[in-house]
Amino acid sequence: MKVTIVGAGAVGASCAEYVAIKDFADEVVLIDIKEGFAEGKAMDLMQCSSLNGFDSTITGTTGDYTKTANSDIAVITSGIPRKPGMTREELISTNAGIVKMVAENLVKHSPNVTLIVVSNPMDTMAYLAAKVSGLPKNRVIGMGGALDSARFKYNLAQAMNCPTSEVSAMVIGGHSDTGMVPLIEKATRNSLPVSEFLDADKQAEIVEATKVGGATLTKLLGTSAWYAPGAAVSEMVKAIALDTKKIFPCSCLLDGQYGLEDICIGVPAVIGKNGIEEILEVELSDAEKEKMKSSAEAVRKTNGLL
Ligand code: 2OP
Repeated sequence: MKVTIVGAGAVGASCAEYVAIKDFADEVVLIDIKEGFAEGKAMDLMQCSSLNGFDSTITGTTGDYTKTANSDIAVITSGIPRKPGMTREELISTNAGIVKMVAENLVKHSPNVTLIVVSNPMDTMAYLAAKVSGLPKNRVIGMGGALDSARFKYNLAQAMNCPTSEVSAMVIGGHSDTGMVPLIEKATRNSLPVSEFLDADKQAEIVEATKVGGATLTKLLGTSAWYAPGAAVSEMVKAIALDTKKIFPCSCLLDGQYGLEDICIGVPAVIGKNGIEEILEVELSDAEKEKMKSSAEAVRKTNGLL
């Protein structure tokens, strides 16, 4: 199992570290455009192998896509992260050209690859990668919902003073500060609805905090977060590598599901060796449907900037 991670910045390197520690990949290739950067990160990570007990080999390369040849999975994290006060959508003018070049290079050397797009604005970057790569739509996935759902679970667990492992919750829709759709009506604590523990105001507060979870961290850190994004995408890589058939909310190219066509947006999907194994059309309340509709309108507007 060969995994390429494009972009040796904070998110890409965190993803490489988590993939290595989870030890399901034979080979991880880290590639960046900055001279020596990916090589240095790979060497530093490999020096953890005896400490963290993994056998995966991690190598780095500066811009040489031949080193990524025959990758099974490739994660695109390249591009600039946002600064405090910026929206993800504002990154499009810089990141679109990078993601297009990266996707084309990856597919040229790995025609059977499954792409996972992390670069922002993610839903639009996933759509761009799907179009320029020419890959079957099940092999282009955007990672946003896995991260947003992790933040949602954290926020709910904090409010209910319970272990995060007790919480089941999902965020669908666009990976944007305004477009996310945290499915609060479906969230549970050990199979019990969270409404048993939290009143309507608290639930609404948690929904809003989840939507701006990324921006909150960017304000604190001065740049985008990296640990949870890296961990989230590493879990999706694992699901493909081990064919786990786990359900992830992730950005999929839709052709009619949820009444949406020709758009990448976060929906529940079964992830396995074929990438998107199945898109799940779950029952949404009228309020959830309305939020999903306006979220899709916002994603389509950003797509229009391509
Ligand atoms: C986030 O929400 C980077 O979009 C990513 O942190």
